[in-house]
Amino acid sequence: MKNKKIFVRTGLMSWVRGGFFSLAAVSLAGMAFAAEEKDMKNQHTVLITGANRGLGLEFAKKFQAAGYEVIGTARKPDEAAELKKIGAEVMELDVTSNEQIEALAKKLDGRKIDILINNAGIFPRTKDREDMMQTYSVNTLGPYFVSEALIPNLKKSDSPRIVNISSGLGQLTGGNGGAGGYSFSKAALNMVTRNLHSSHHRDGVIVISVNPGHNKTDMGGDGAPLEPANTAEKLLELVETLKPDQSGGFWMYDGEKLDW
Ligand SMILES: NC(=O)c1ccc[n+]([C@@H]2O[C@H](COP(=O)([O-])OP(=O)(O)OC[C@H]3O[C@@H](n4cnc5c(N)ncnc54)[C@H](OP(=O)(O)O)[C@@H]3O)[C@@H](O)[C@H]2O)c1
Repeated sequence: MKNKKIFVRTGLMSWVRGGFFSLAAVSLAGMAFAAEEKDMKNQHTVLITGANRGLGLEFAKKFQAAGYEVIGTARKPDEAAELKKIGAEVMELDVTSNEQIEALAKKLDGRKIDILINNAGIFPRTKDREDMMQTYSVNTLGPYFVSEALIPNLKKSDSPRIVNISSGLGQLTGGNGGAGGYSFSKAALNMVTRNLHSSHHRDGVIVISVNPGHNKTDMGGDGAPLEPANTAEKLLELVETLKPDQSGGFWMYDGEKLDW
């Protein structure tokens, strides 16, 4: 009888304990699911133009590895194999095309974008007027029109950021404009940064120009001193730690403040 009581009690206790642990397991799983769901909602999205190669691809890799949802644009999405391989969402964009900018904004309608990196750029080394016009269209007007088209998406973010990839060759202080049309376009891009800052900082959008330094890419050449992967890591750090009072400024990829 005594034993039975003990059995009943231990049986009851083990049921209660079992029930408790199952309940605890279920509620822990529920909490984990809710946290994951919350994380998904809180997941930050970065859109990078010209992300199929060079610095853009390295930025995409670093942000993807850091847990961001990455939208990488390419002029030829079918050929952006490496970008697809890392799990980025690939969208078509030639930054000189108003139609394609409009189509991109339409595709992204209602979606939150936390960070826009205007990276696409060209560097024709000629003194040809048409080349210079094209350089201005890609390097200067591209970032301006893409940013304006995606402002509604950026405003959905708690902490929206626009990063314009500029260049030391566009610097007025210390620079000599020696790269011709490329220098002109990047100096003007820095004014695009000032313009976007003054138009949107009241709505919380942080807008900066960044000099990524001289990197080993098709544009930078094999002899460049910097590795794009290292530059991308530092840029990620800079972008993640930006404060509102840094908006409207020019920064080295590693966080050093630059003169215009
Ligand atoms: N590498 C350096 O040393 C260095 C130094 C200072 C600043 N930067 C700046 O960093 C950015 C990236 O340079 P990078 O070295 O990575 O150059 P890159 O290797 O030549 O890559 C340029 C990227 O821009 C894209 N692009 C060109 N024209 C475009 C257009 N009309 N519309 C959309 N995308 C276009 C290219 O796409 P396609 O594959 O379709 O051509 C490619 O994805 C540029 O803004 C550049 O000026 C680079």
